[in-house]
Amino acid sequence: MTQFQRKRQKEVLKRFTDRYSMAASSALDAVEEEAIGAVVGANGYTTVAQADQLLEVLDLKPATWLLDIGAGRGWPGLYLSERSGCRAVVTDVPRPAIVTAQSRALDLALHHRCHVALASGSALPFGRASFDAIVHTDTL
Ligand SMILES: C[S@@+](CC[C@H](N)C(=O)[O-])C[C@H]1O[C@@H](n2cnc3c(N)ncnc32)[C@H](O)[C@@H]1O
Repeated sequence: MTQFQRKRQKEVLKRFTDRYSMAASSALDAVEEEAIGAVVGANGYTTVAQADQLLEVLDLKPATWLLDIGAGRGWPGLYLSERSGCRAVVTDVPRPAIVTAQSRALDLALHHRCHVALASGSALPFGRASFDAIVHTDTL
């Protein structure tokens, strides 16, 4: 990795860490509801209708393992697991995002099949063929 890429990566991490450290509020929830279609912990532009399209094409089942890269607070990985019954691992780099994703999994009673990992998409700590499906929304 070049010095420029390292600097850029640090800036991105700080920006998203600041974003995910913001306290929840009814105003933010109202914006998310209006823009995304529900309050699901989103931090991008992927709507509930688009996540439902992912459900259609991925054919997720309870035995399926899904990886969500750059999931932030767990969107859409947790939702896809909730709707399909699949197992999921949601990953991201900022710690506050992953802490919130974990507590959302607990609140949604998904913790027995959804797991979180603090990991960059460029250095995933998983073996080959660990997953049946991979999603990323607004991560690139
Ligand atoms: C616009 S947000 C989208 C978050 C979530 N997927 C959503 O749709 O609400 C982009 C996400 O990409 C993550 N990200 C940035 N660089 C990453 C990397 N190298 N590996 C994994 N995630 C990364 C950010 O931390 C951020 O959570």
